[in-house]
Amino acid sequence: MQHYQIAVVVGSLRKDSLNHQLAQAIIRLAPSNFSFKLLQIGDLPLYNQDDDAHQAESVIRLKQDIAASQGLLFVTPEYNRSIPGVLKNAIDHASRPYGHNAWAGKPTGVLGVSVGAIGTALAQQHLRNILAYLDAPTMDQPEAFIQAKPGLLDAHGNIGADSLEFLQGWMDHFVAWVQKQSSTITTMASR
Ligand code: FNR
Repeated sequence: MQHYQIAVVVGSLRKDSLNHQLAQAIIRLAPSNFSFKLLQIGDLPLYNQDDDAHQAESVIRLKQDIAASQGLLFVTPEYNRSIPGVLKNAIDHASRPYGHNAWAGKPTGVLGVSVGAIGTALAQQHLRNILAYLDAPTMDQPEAFIQAKPGLLDAHGNIGADSLEFLQGWMDHFVAWVQKQSSTITTMASR
């Protein structure tokens, strides 16, 4: 059975981040031929185009981790109706230098949880715009706009009973979609 490595990008650096907890919980719903690597973005310098010719070690590591993956999973909070600056900083770093965009062609899932009622909908929409420009195809449906409520996660950090069917369905779609996209990319590459 083919193995897929998914790079996970969490848009919050907070120790008790709900998005980090959601990311940890949802990846447990994937089949055994999928593995997930959480990308480190908290130690990246602020993006400065002057550094494109000599990227920092942390940036090179980020780009290598993306290159080694067959898909991406973004799990992000919404900050002021958009994505957090730390996430945009990471996206900008890995998109450069010009012509060496690490995100291109990676099948991508977008998720997020917030305390607000719209459950990161605007952040996700902004993120989808950015990813479209970067040529990373995003799974359109199902969308998952998750509001943090008691019971979202159980005492063991697993998805709680009320959300399990929906989020298992989300993961099943994501797995099928990554596999389909990967076979399309492989077919095109072999032509
Ligand atoms: C927020 N929060 C927030 N929530 C939301 O639904 N829409 C928003 O626009 C914002 N804006 C915002 C800005 C800033 C600077 C902060 C710190 C917070 C609240 C946010 O949903 C909440 O803090 C989440 O818990 C953040 O996610 P993590 O860190 O728990 O993953």
